[in-house]
Amino acid sequence: MSEPLIRLEGVGRTFRSGEVEVNALREADLAIDRGDYLSIMGPSGSGKSTLLNITALLDRHTSGTYRFEGRDVGRLSEGERTGLRAHRIGFVFQAFHLLTHRTVLENVVLSMLYGSVPRSDRKARAAGALERVGLSDRAGFLPSRLSGGERQRVAIARAIVTRPPILLCDEPTGSLDSTTSRSILELFEELRSDGLTIVVVTHDQMVSSRAERTIAMHDGRVTQDTRA
Ligand SMILES: Nc1ncnc2c1ncn2[C@@H]1O[C@H](COP(=O)(O)OP(=O)(O)O)[C@@H](O)[C@H]1O
Ligand SMILES: [Mg+2]
Repeated sequence: MSEPLIRLEGVGRTFRSGEVEVNALREADLAIDRGDYLSIMGPSGSGKSTLLNITALLDRHTSGTYRFEGRDVGRLSEGERTGLRAHRIGFVFQAFHLLTHRTVLENVVLSMLYGSVPRSDRKARAAGALERVGLSDRAGFLPSRLSGGERQRVAIARAIVTRPPILLCDEPTGSLDSTTSRSILELFEELRSDGLTIVVVTHDQMVSSRAERTIAMHDGRVTQDTRA
């Protein structure tokens, strides 16, 4: 058996504010293989974003072991974590987080600032990513002129332009109507057939049902792991 892309063993995250401790994530065991298409479901406050943020190296776990491509992430320096995040992990937020005064193309180019793509290749790479998400004809637009679905496609282009092995998405369709959501899900399926591993946190049963594996969370714990 080869090492999974992601392996969490007994991973926990405790937040402390003053006297109060919140166990946002408790002893999570989770392995994600290359090519998995996984959804994470659970009520608000159950720890979904905490799990995703730790997996994306946006946050640090406070207990347990997290291995990314076999490397113990807990032993990496801040610089090594930043490098891994820039090269090997794509992340998509519900609220798109595009730079409003930059064009669509510039938004995607700027995401390569900390990656390994040579400066001279960045524009072509960005154009390729925009083509992949079906937005070539919007490259010169400002985000404010795009629909919600188009903005999320730009965010996806930005996330995949460095060709990471995994795309992590936190409620990516949470601000979109159901028709637009479906078209984003179709895009996920295309990207997956290109070989991308996809993890989607969602409240939406329709979104979750498209994944091949679903994890349920409750009160900081992974309570179910089912394959379609
Ligand atoms: N930065 C933080 N500081 C303190 N508590 C937090 C922080 N982030 C999340 N929490 C708490 O951790 C729990 C899980 O939150 P979260 O992972 O955002 O849940 P979900 O994404 O499932 O809605 C919640 O009780 C939340 O209030
Ligand atoms: Mg959340």
